[in-house]
Amino acid sequence: MIKYYQTTKKMSKKVFIFDLDGVIVDTAKYHYLAWKNLANGLGFEFTEAQNERLKGVSRVRSLEILLNIGQVNLSDKEKEKLLTDKNKEYLEYVHNMTADEILPGIENLLKYLETKNIKFALGSASKNASLILKKVGLFKKFTAIVDGNDVSKAKPNPEVFNIAATKLSANSENCIVVEDALAGIQAAKKAGMTCIGIGDKEVLFEADYILKSTKELTIDLVEKLIDEKN
Ligand code: BG6
Ligand code: MG
Repeated sequence: MIKYYQTTKKMSKKVFIFDLDGVIVDTAKYHYLAWKNLANGLGFEFTEAQNERLKGVSRVRSLEILLNIGQVNLSDKEKEKLLTDKNKEYLEYVHNMTADEILPGIENLLKYLETKNIKFALGSASKNASLILKKVGLFKKFTAIVDGNDVSKAKPNPEVFNIAATKLSANSENCIVVEDALAGIQAAKKAGMTCIGIGDKEVLFEADYILKSTKELTIDLVEKLIDEKN
């Protein structure tokens, strides 16, 4: 005799959207190294504190901010060459990446979401996102990957997260974004999404939740967010 069991708990419609650099993988340090070398080559210093301004920001905009810091004026052609050089150096670091560079707690969290059938997407400014996810073996896990190649407006514009929500068939109020950059948090809030900031609370104060590190993305917290009513 076949027995039918009906679950009393309603399926959650919540979904997750993850930023890449500084949330899934520790690539922020490679971006910094490449920009620092570029700045030094142009004859000025570039500190880690100044680098905060480049987090979450597109490659082109990052160069503009950097040149502004160094008070350097260049032609469009020279800028193009610097952008190519920066990405070339960055990709040399990326080339050596392994799954060891996935940030703590992330693999567990993704496994948990999979077992609960909670969908998740990537929402990143990077044009190297697919390559990086392949390097660390996470590419196939994401329902959708939305990156710098898919958007015309960079964070803090919400476009990247809106596209990700559409690909996940989710309403914005059911999307939980995980971000390490102020520009990304502002984009998530503009999209009407819940946002978890990873990093310094002085910088990320606009987020709904602020954690010092991805280690604090515990199953307890995730369950609370999933069960939370809008
Ligand atoms: C963001 C990083 O995720 O991607 C920025 O936080 C970076 O630092 C931006 O500039 C663009 O990345 P990429 O890989 O296209 O140069
Ligand atoms: Mg980031």
